[in-house]
Amino acid sequence: MAKKINVGTLISGGGTNLQAIIDAAKSSRISADIVFTGSDNPGVRGLERAQNAKIDTFVVDYSKIIQSCKKGIKGADLPKDFDLEDIRAKQRLFKAGMPSEQVEFFLKSRAIAEKALLDQIREYDMDLLVLAGFMRVLTPYFIDRINTVSGKHRIMNIHPALLPSFPGTDGYGDTFRYGCKIGGCTVHFIDYGEDTGPIIGQKAFEIEDTDTLDDVKRKGLEKEWGLYPLCIQKFADSF
Ligand code: GRF
Repeated sequence: MAKKINVGTLISGGGTNLQAIIDAAKSSRISADIVFTGSDNPGVRGLERAQNAKIDTFVVDYSKIIQSCKKGIKGADLPKDFDLEDIRAKQRLFKAGMPSEQVEFFLKSRAIAEKALLDQIREYDMDLLVLAGFMRVLTPYFIDRINTVSGKHRIMNIHPALLPSFPGTDGYGDTFRYGCKIGGCTVHFIDYGEDTGPIIGQKAFEIEDTDTLDDVKRKGLEKEWGLYPLCIQKFADSF
């Protein structure tokens, strides 16, 4: 077995992927300890799952932060090391032509939330950050402060489609509505784009003509629970 790595996790909801990772760590199927679970959403079931497993939890309430930013962002609200032009140049989330004020608001409001996340994460000795159903896009402000060694990715995500097909928030829905006969999920590293980072692993499943969207989601999630621990182990093996 490889050396144990310390894994931080971020979630937004039910946390079934988190549970699969907790179970894999508990039964030593992966050489990893989960050191925290953070959520952008208070009161979600995933936080309970973490607490039941005696994992530290915290919440950074993104909705509240964004609401307050809508009332106006002052210079003093921004992190001291925030550099709008650097982040704007690096990000690949928005296409050219997107109104500049909208991009600016997005990058500033997210950096305020991301600084709050970083303040929590800094308390832990963490080798890998695993996004387990974390439904917020991370900007270069956050990514650069986690990926501190050049060329080394440290943030993993699971996406509910076979990337590069169907990026975005509704991978299974998009797969189903397109009429695909094969669906799947992808674990990849996070980079400056949306669902564009290097692929670590994928699992596919067949979609029958009689399958509903719920069937597709169920089949997909079952694959996710198997895939995520394998990809974390792959990272641990190369650590
Ligand atoms: C999963 O389908 C994952 O691919 C997507 O969000 C869902 C999270 O489910 N990013 P859960 O919270 O792990 O149950």
